[in-house]
Amino acid sequence: MKTIIESLHLEGFRQFPELDVLFNDGFNFLAGPNGCGKTSVLAGVSHCFATTFTHSRFRENAEFWVDMSIGNKKFRVGTGKGAGISTTYRSSSLKRWTTPPPATNRTSISNYQTPEIIGSDVPLFIGAQRSIKYEQIQGLKREASVEDSISAYSNRTTQSLYGEHSPSIKQWFINRYFVIDKDWAQEERANWNHLIEQLPYLAPFDSNFSYVKTERDLEPIFKIYGKECYLEEVSSGFQAILLIICTIFQWVEETRAPGERLVRTATGTVLIDELDLHLHPEWQFTIRDGLSRIFPNLQFIVTTHSPHLLASANNNEVIIMPARTNPNEPTRLAPANRSYSGWNTDQILSDVMGVRSLENKIYEKLVSAALKNVREKNLKELKGVMIELHNVCHPDDSILVVLTAELAALEALDHD
Ligand SMILES: Nc1ncnc2c1ncn2[C@@H]1O[C@H](COP(=O)(O)OP(=O)(O)OP(=O)(O)O)[C@@H](O)[C@H]1O
Ligand SMILES: [Mg+2]
Repeated sequence: MKTIIESLHLEGFRQFPELDVLFNDGFNFLAGPNGCGKTSVLAGVSHCFATTFTHSRFRENAEFWVDMSIGNKKFRVGTGKGAGISTTYRSSSLKRWTTPPPATNRTSISNYQTPEIIGSDVPLFIGAQRSIKYEQIQGLKREASVEDSISAYSNRTTQSLYGEHSPSIKQWFINRYFVIDKDWAQEERANWNHLIEQLPYLAPFDSNFSYVKTERDLEPIFKIYGKECYLEEVSSGFQAILLIICTIFQWVEETRAPGERLVRTATGTVLIDELDLHLHPEWQFTIRDGLSRIFPNLQFIVTTHSPHLLASANNNEVIIMPARTNPNEPTRLAPANRSYSGWNTDQILSDVMGVRSLENKIYEKLVSAALKNVREKNLKELKGVMIELHNVCHPDDSILVVLTAELAALEALDHD
């Protein structure tokens, strides 16, 4: 039974007069210039499951919902018009609960019903703050009941997105250290083994990132590039990855009933703001496949500024948001029916992510000067430009190779 967020509808919310976004059931990469509204889309989804609305301004008569499916049941979850949302900065509240408008073969439910009806299918939100601060763990901490965990996750969807609440992954590590050998902890043990097995595959291939041990002082120790280090000493990139992965493990284990806690088979939606944050470009290329190896049945909706991540996306996974939308027309976004794996970084930056300043890059200027000199057969000028191009280009750059051949041809003509 798979859980999927199929689409989002927002009206009178933040900067969007009206916005509809379709999602696919695997990976979704939201890309676009700064300020186009990527995080706001995640915030919009977070409000559909929350019972308090922090961090957003709404217009009067705002409405917002997601259409989702849980197995073969379909739901519309959120708030319809007429809720009387106050429009005060940072303290929006509802005068009354309203269900979103009905849709064929879908049950419309209001936010406050989500813990009860959606239960463990409440999505997980991971914000753009990824550092692990030092804390001393005293020992095993009693874990909350599934019901309490579900209502805690629903109450703080938006706060988690903005880094105001993040569960302690160190406490989770220590709890696992104490329980995994108990006979009642079979699923936790299977998850733990899965995590330990997969960690080395996630990291750059020569780093051998692995968990080593936890000793009497309850400080987990890892190994990177052959050196042991404590959790908080691990560098930002590794911390970012650990935080994402362990937060997802913890969410699956806390919100599912025993018998449904295996991470490998768990379904649901995880929304992550700025997935590429702190990651080395090599990691940005591999993180998509790493995540789908560890969590093969989860749906991911992530925002990114990384052309490398976009190059790793498959067909139907990239949703491009324009810098500005027409305020008088509804905006409809959907995953592009293509992939960008054959595009180079500059092409993705300029044509997909709308970066304009590339035209001013020294490389671009030199290439146009060189092409002009080739056209005008100006050998002397071309030679000068080619020296500069060699200084800024990778030796295998295909345009450099072509221009070098053009220069050789002009030199041959000149000798004749
Ligand atoms: N709480 C809010 N209420 C109303 N409008 C908001 C609110 N927060 C942001 N906005 C508007 O939404 C715009 C987009 O913000 P958002 O954070 O979603 O962009 P983004 O695409 O995530 O940008 P970045 O790439 O810089 O993270 C802001 O420029 C602002 O106009
Ligand atoms: Mg953002």
